[in-house]
This record gives sequence, C-alpha cells and structure tokens, in this order.
Amino acid sequence: MDICIIGAGHVGLVTGACFADLGNRVICVDSDRRKIGLLRKGRAPFFEPALEPMVARHLKTKRLLFTADIAEGVRKSVVIFIAVGTPPLDSGDADLTGVENVARSIARCMTGYRLIVEKSTVPVDTGKWIHRILSESIPRKIPFDVASNPEFLREGSAVNDFLHPDRIVIGVESKKAQDLLKELYRPFQCPLVVTDIASAELIKHASNAFLATKISFINSIATLCERVGADVEKVAQGVGLDRRIGPAFLDAGIGYGGFCLPKDIEAFIRIAEKLGYDYKLLKAVKQINEDQRRSLVDKVEKQLWNLKGKKIGVLGLAFKPDTDDMRFAPSLEVIEALKKAGAKIKVFDPQAMGAAKKLLNGVAFAKDPYEAAKGSDCLLLLTEWDEFKKLDLKRVKRLLRQPVIVDGRNLYDPAVVRKFGFSYVGIGLGKG
Ligand SMILES: NC(=O)c1ccc[n+]([C@@H]2O[C@H](COP(=O)([O-])OP(=O)(O)OC[C@H]3O[C@@H](n4cnc5c(N)ncnc54)[C@H](O)[C@@H]3O)[C@@H](O)[C@H]2O)c1
Repeated sequence: MDICIIGAGHVGLVTGACFADLGNRVICVDSDRRKIGLLRKGRAPFFEPALEPMVARHLKTKRLLFTADIAEGVRKSVVIFIAVGTPPLDSGDADLTGVENVARSIARCMTGYRLIVEKSTVPVDTGKWIHRILSESIPRKIPFDVASNPEFLREGSAVNDFLHPDRIVIGVESKKAQDLLKELYRPFQCPLVVTDIASAELIKHASNAFLATKISFINSIATLCERVGADVEKVAQGVGLDRRIGPAFLDAGIGYGGFCLPKDIEAFIRIAEKLGYDYKLLKAVKQINEDQRRSLVDKVEKQLWNLKGKKIGVLGLAFKPDTDDMRFAPSLEVIEALKKAGAKIKVFDPQAMGAAKKLLNGVAFAKDPYEAAKGSDCLLLLTEWDEFKKLDLKRVKRLLRQPVIVDGRNLYDPAVVRKFGFSYVGIGLGKG
C-alpha cells in the first residue's frame, strides 16, 4: 500500500519505518528540513533502539522516502497519517494548530480519494474538526474519509511495540476506511478494535489516564509504606499478582514524565471540564505525581541536613531509559528544585546529554557516572538505565564525599547497597 506519514517524529518515523518493513511504500513528510536531511542519509534524528538500522535498510529498498514537501506525500499515497506533535498550551489544552495546518495542506494537495488518519493523540471531536476543515478546503469535490488510529508505543521500545502491539484501535465511519485500515494491519496478530472515531479518540486518553492512575496509586501507597515502615515493592508484588490488577505500572518512583502522560492527563482534565465534568480523579493523580518530585528533594535534604552548597551527582536525565527524550522529564523539575535550594549539580545520562545541554543551565556535565559521583555529597538516581545497575559500587563509594545514595527509581537492592557502607534511601522502602 502507498502510505504517507506527516510528522517524522517519535511516532511518525517509527510508524513509517515499520510499515515499510512490512512491505508498504512509505513517504515520511516533515517540515523540519534538518531532520529530513539526516533521515535521507539513513540517520535517526533521535535515539530509539532498532530504529536507525531499519530506516537505513528501507532507504536502500526504496520503500521509505523522506521529503519536506507535503504535496509529494499526498499525491503519491492513498492513506495519510497525521503524526505531528500536540504539545500542551498554557491552559493545559492540547495545541492542535499543527494538526489543523496539516489538514488544510492535505486538502490543497489532494488529487483523488484519500483516507486521512489521526495518529497524533488528540481530544475527542478532533476527527469531526478534521472532516470539517477538509470539506471546506478541498478545492473540487473529491471524496475522502477521516479515521482515528491512536498509537500506544512506548519510547525506548517503540519499534518492538509498534510491530507487536497488544491491540490495534481503528475509529472509522465508512466501510472503505475500515477496509483500507484492516488491509494495512492484516499482518498483525493482535486483536483489532473497530469503533467510531470519537470512541477511538477516547480509548487513547482513557488508556493513558489509567496508566497514570496506576503510577500515582502505587506512589500514594509508597508514601504510606514510608510512614509505617513497610516495603512498597512487596506490596506491589502482592497486589499485582491479582490478575484483575496486573503487575505493570506498579513501580513506585518519582512519578511519570515524558511527552505523553503529563500532557495527556492535563488535556483530558480540560476536555472533561469543557464537557461539564470535573475530573477529580485525574486532578488527584496529577497532584500525587507532582508531590513525588518534592518528596524526593526532601529525601535528599534529610540525608544531607542542608542543601545549600552541597554537591549532588545526578544519574539519569531522560524521562525513561533507552531514550534521549527530555520532554517533561522529572529530572528537570528535581534538578531545578535542588538548584533553588542552593545545591551544586553534576549530571550524567548515557544518551540524553545532548538534549539536556539545551535545557539545563548552571549544572556541570560529567563524562560518565563515576565523574558525576566524584566529590559529591550524594548520588541521586533519576532514570533507571541498565548501566547504572552495574556500577562498581566500591569505586563509587571511594569517589563520593559522603556515601549517600538516594534512589528515585528503586533500582538498587537496599540490602546490597547498605552492605557496601552506603546510607541508602529509595521510594516507599520502609522508614529509612
Ligand atoms: N512519543 C510517544 O511516545 C507517543 C506515543 C503515542 C502517541 N504520541 C502522540 O503522537 C504525536 C506525535 O508525538 P511525537 O512524540 O512523535 O512528537 P515529535 O515532536 O517527536 O514529532 C512530531 C514531528 O512532526 C513534525 N511536524 C510538526 N508540524 C509539522 C507540519 N506542519 N508538517 C510536517 N511535519 C510537522 C515535527 O517537525 C516533528 O518531527 C503526539 O500527539 C503524541 O502525543 C506520542
């Protein structure tokens, strides 16, 4: 099938590369010419495991093309995915100007029937708006359909998630749209949920809201564990083994971040508000998430007595491991709060240093975890990269000024770390 993906970012590029891998001819369009330049050389503009080799492979098979010219993509394709960003406005609403502009551009370039598919995460009703804009802007009477096909991939395992999803959701309002999307997704083995567009849009927001709720729920339990001296990891294990609940997303820590959950929760609260519903549950989820950052800073302070002038070595900046994405990373808030309290910060991340340098001022950048530890009063872990798990703790202890580890992700086994002579604090792990 001939497909066009507009927006070659974390979702669009993965979608394009994977569809090409499945035998389709794909044109990825992006307005960022620097990105297009890199992609044409077979280079991914961000770090995502397995993506770059796939891009390079399908440049060679010529099943994957890159252009900044939307007309070229629309002309050559039947199915057009919109995968541009929908960042938050100050109000918390999703900024949909990118989606709107793309819809208008598609309309101007259409030469025959096209199926326009929302892949970006958008508020319920966006499908209707896209339909209206296309109807108004298509110069002649050309038939088209709009569909919703939300994406559930996770950065860090995006290629694998895209190729092996738990389910595929398609929101359609015509048989033709349904047949086209069913054909496109025919190689996939997972359940296919076929529904109307509004329900598909809601499925995406509801899924992210549920995941965020699970995270804030276990973090609220972690706070109680700290008050009574219980172990949240054991509590989560005991709770998660109930098949009605499941073990995923029950890891206590510094809370959710990244380009999806924070903005999507905020947007969902706003969507509900506009529909006359006060989403108290999600407001509490958001508040608990914010409290987790503050509580971590308090933990560091409790270990060091005073923060002013203290040196903190920070391990991990990306919002999660296996990505260099710093958008809405919890590390940004935690580092800001520590700086405000007068601490001096030295940071290290295996992949996100480039992105972090553009966002973090007044911090030192270390070349490896040991340099971050050197001379620091506390080692603060913020992202659970595998390589941090394998640190030479003897060496770390020698390098630190005070043998203190504050673990925002419960990466380490407290008993092991304490055996090395560290003072260790995690999240929800007893009164420590
Ligand atoms: N990142 C994730 O893990 C994830 C997962 C599921 C859904 N989503 C959703 O997918 C959407 C995209 O997210 P992302 O992380 O891929 O964003 P991104 O910022 O990585 O990518 C968006 C791309 O769109 C391009 N773009 C913007 N305006 C354009 C235009 N007018 N024409 C052509 N290109 C344009 C940008 O240059 C950028 O490359 C968002 O709605 C997001 O909520 C993201």
